This record gives sequence, structure tokens and C-alpha cells, in this order.
Amino acid sequence: QQQEQEQEPPKPKQRNLLDNASNLLTNFLSGGSLGAMPVAEGAVTDLFGKPLFFSLYDWFIEHGSVYKLAFGPKSFVVVSDPIVARHILRENAFCYDKGVLAEILKPIMGKGLIPADLDTWKQRRKVITPGFHALFIEAMVRIFTKCSERTISKLEELTESEGQVIVDLEAEFSNLALDIIGLGVFNFDFDSVTKESPVIKAVYGTLFEAEHRSTFYIPYWNLPFTKWIVPRQRKFHSDLKVINDCLDNLIKNAKETRQEDDVEKLQQRDYSSLKDVSLLRFLVDMRGADVDDRQLRDDLMTMLIAGHETTAAVLTWSVFLLAQSPTKMRKAQAEVDSVLSNGAITVDTLKKLEYIKLIILEALRLYPQPPLLIRRSLRPDKLPGGYNGAKEGYEIPVGTDIFVSIYNLHRSPYFWDRPNEFEPERFSVPKKDESIKGWSGFDPNRSPGAMYPNEIIADFAFLPFGGGPRKCVGDQFALLESTVALAMLLRKFDVELRGSPDEVEMVTGATIHTKNGLWCRLRKRRT
Ligand code: HEM
Repeated sequence: QQQEQEQEPPKPKQRNLLDNASNLLTNFLSGGSLGAMPVAEGAVTDLFGKPLFFSLYDWFIEHGSVYKLAFGPKSFVVVSDPIVARHILRENAFCYDKGVLAEILKPIMGKGLIPADLDTWKQRRKVITPGFHALFIEAMVRIFTKCSERTISKLEELTESEGQVIVDLEAEFSNLALDIIGLGVFNFDFDSVTKESPVIKAVYGTLFEAEHRSTFYIPYWNLPFTKWIVPRQRKFHSDLKVINDCLDNLIKNAKETRQEDDVEKLQQRDYSSLKDVSLLRFLVDMRGADVDDRQLRDDLMTMLIAGHETTAAVLTWSVFLLAQSPTKMRKAQAEVDSVLSNGAITVDTLKKLEYIKLIILEALRLYPQPPLLIRRSLRPDKLPGGYNGAKEGYEIPVGTDIFVSIYNLHRSPYFWDRPNEFEPERFSVPKKDESIKGWSGFDPNRSPGAMYPNEIIADFAFLPFGGGPRKCVGDQFALLESTVALAMLLRKFDVELRGSPDEVEMVTGATIHTKNGLWCRLRKRRT
């Protein structure tokens, strides 16, 4: 292990004059003016058979941490450098919008936070962020517990006769995350853990289409009449209608029982006595937040999609990693047994589940959700110089499409020791050397009080929830939700993979998930 630690990270390929000349020519031919930025020539076949972010990683090692990816006439700038990422996401964030991503998601999320134009985004972000206040999060912990209990009871029933069962945990986590997001965001109990319903089917249908659109390179769905002619588009529109009708009803009910109040008063409500603790209730009751129903529906739809698959994925990969590491599994179970020995789960008990939280963060490092952030420049910009192969700052013309590869940043051999190893402990090791950029250990003096090692502490080498003004609004929600669910699973079960880890192939749309499910053997623990 020590030897591994001291291994030199690979050096970006040295470019010679000929390479540079060919880059310039390719830039010129593909219509860009991205200067001498290295160019990775992608074959369309690179897009099939394996997730795109794998190829982006290989090209990062070959061409350095800012390069241009050219697919015929289409090109993207791929960024794997923390300084450049910080510039795009935080320092000059408003020079960029969500580009291709917004185009894909607009038909589903309308003017919700993710695809919204800047003016709508500014207005809605100001209204939505206060909704995630401390008492709301506390109330959510009760919802996380209740929903996780439902999943655990179902799994206990399945193991009853033989003491063990083989299940697809990815599917179970997906149902659990859907139930939680429904109750937390708009007080609707999908109860997908125990039943099927047209609304649940419609949600999965819509997620499936969102994924199809994010991996299909020709937006045929924008052509006239496709929504009537192409069967999958017809189905998509009918699924969307089922969800929209459901959300419209919930909004109507919430408005009929509206109790206007100031943000401060709403944040002090006695959440323990409220029947409806959802974010929708807060948004509707907020004085001065008069908003048309269409916008509210877009907000809810956005959070349903942004908060569902991401959380299900982090739980899936946490278990995948733990199941291959029996010592870490036992360490996690020992922590859970000692912290949860006396009953109810609260925000305070959750703070003591330090190791579980680090497991979740380490799973997010290795399998970031989403693996790429997508941006498009609204004005010309000049990127700052960065590290490895990105020392010069490049000019970015207006309309440039950019992928900030979180996957590459999180597995960068330049910023992480043993980047591909699962080591939750890495986040609690004291920082070795102040002069080393990126993540080289935990520095408790930086950003004291931070709930988790975040992008600020890691100088943008670690971006589990993005960074800058478009950072995830649900980070605390998601982290506590995953902590509760994982802790409750480990309290009751020992988990083993059914086959070999290599059989669990990755596929990716908006998030990284498995090709055929995460099939595990669960054995009831004797505690
Ligand atoms: C944005 C990750 C859970 C709501 C983001 C972004 C990331 C992210 C990386 C930034 C996207 C970008 O810059 O382009 C995650 C992960 C989650 C999670 C890993 C779970 C483990 C949630 C939950 C909610 C949520 C539970 C809501 C309850 C949002 C919204 C945005 C967002 C609304 C857009 C923010 C904006 O543009 O202002 N998320 N998220 N997310 N997330 Fe999350």
C-alpha cells in the first residue's frame, strides 16, 4: 500500500510542434477559436459500448486537464482542473448557462431551477433555498426514517423463511428515494416500496425518457409531429400528463389551505405538530412568493427528478463498494450498532454516524452523480491557467459547450492518493502539506462547521454537489437521507454481492447506474 501511495501519477503526454500544429488546424476546421487547446479526436464509436466519461478520463490523462473533444462538426471543451472548474462554476458562473442540458430538460422541467433562464433562476433560487431550513431538515429525518423502515420491513419479510434473500438493491433504493422525495417535496406518498401505481409508472417512464434524451445525440423529439407519431414520444407525453395532473392537484390543494406568513415565521413553525411538512407547503405559504401554478409545478418536477435518481445512485454505489470490503462493512456496522442502540434517529444521532457519512462521500467521489456538469458560454471568456497540461489560460468564444468532468476531478491522480481505491478514511486524515493543492487530507481549520468535506475545503478538487451559485440546493437533505437509509440497512443485514463486481457494469445517463441491477444476498444479522 505504501508503495502504491508513493507511485508517481501519470504525466500528461508532452506535445510536440507537430501535435500543436495539427490541433490548430483541427480547431480551425471545426470552426472554433480555442487557440492551442489540445484536441482529442473522438470517433463516434467511442460513444457506444462504454460510458462516455471513461473515454473522457483516458483523454484527460493523454491530453491534459483542459482539452477540446471534437466529434466531426460538434465539439466540447472538457475540463478536469480544479482552478478552471472553480472559475466556470463560481467565479464567472453567470457567464455560462446549462446549454445542451437545458435543451434536453426543458420539455420536462420547464422553468425549474436546472434548465431555467438566468432571470427566472435568480428569482426562484431565492425563494426555494430558505425552504431547506433547519426545522424542515429535522422534519425530513422523520420521513427518511419512516420510509426506510418500510423498505427494511419488506426486506425482513423476504428473508423470513430462509434467513437470507437475493434482491436487486438498486431497485429497492430507487423506490425508497422516490417515496422520500414525494413526501418531502410535495407531501405525496407514492408508497412505491409496496405497490405499483400509474403515477409511479409515469415517473419512471419520464426518467427513462430524460435519460434517453441525454444520451441520444440527435434531438429528433423537437421535430414537428413526433409527439404524435413516434410511440416512445407519445408515451412520454402521456406519462408527463399523468405526473403534471398529479402535481397540479397537489398544488391546488395546498393553495386552498394556504396560510400566508413571513419566511422567518415559517422557519420557526412547530414542525412536530404539522401534518404537511413538505417544501410545497412552505413555498405556497410564503408571503410575497406569489407564483403561478405552472412555475410551482416546474419547481416540483425539477426536484422530483434531481433528488430521486441521484440519491438512489449514491446508495447503490455505497453498498457496491462496502460489499467488496468486509472490514469496512464491519466497521460501519459497529458504528451503527453503537450510535443507534437506543432508539430514535434524530439530526443529533446522525451527526455521530461519522463513518457512514464518509462512506457516502467516498461513494460520491468514485461515482459522482452526475459525472459531468454541462455548461455553455453566454459571452466570450478567458479561462485561468490551471495545473497539468492547462497552464495557459484559453480563450473561450461565445457558445462554447463545456463538460466539467467531476469524474476526472474526483479520480485525478494529480490530486488524490490512490484515486481509484475506496477509502472513506481519507477524509479524516489530517492534511499533510498546506502547499499541496486539491485534496491531500482533511484540514479542520478550513471552513470550520462545514457539515461535510466539500468543494471549498477541497479547492474544487472534490465537488460532490457541484459548486458556486448553481450548487445543489438539496445537499443536506440528500446526505442525511442517504445516511439514514444506509445505517438502517446495515443495522439489520449483512450484504454480499451475488456475483463478481465486474458483472456490475456501469451505464450512464444523467447519473451512473448499473446495467442490470445491484443483485445482493442479504442475510439477517444476529444482533
Ligand atoms: C443541482 C448533485 C440530491 C435538487 C445539483 C448539482 C449537483 C447535484 C452536482 C449541480 C448541477 C450543476 O451545477 O449543473 C446531487 C447529488 C444528490 C442530490 C449527488 C444526492 C446524493 C438532490 C436533492 C434535491 C436536489 C435531494 C432536492 C430535494 C437540486 C436542484 C439543483 C441541483 C434543484 C439545481 C440547483 C440550481 O441550479 O440552482 N445537484 N443532488 N438535489 N440539485 Fe442536487
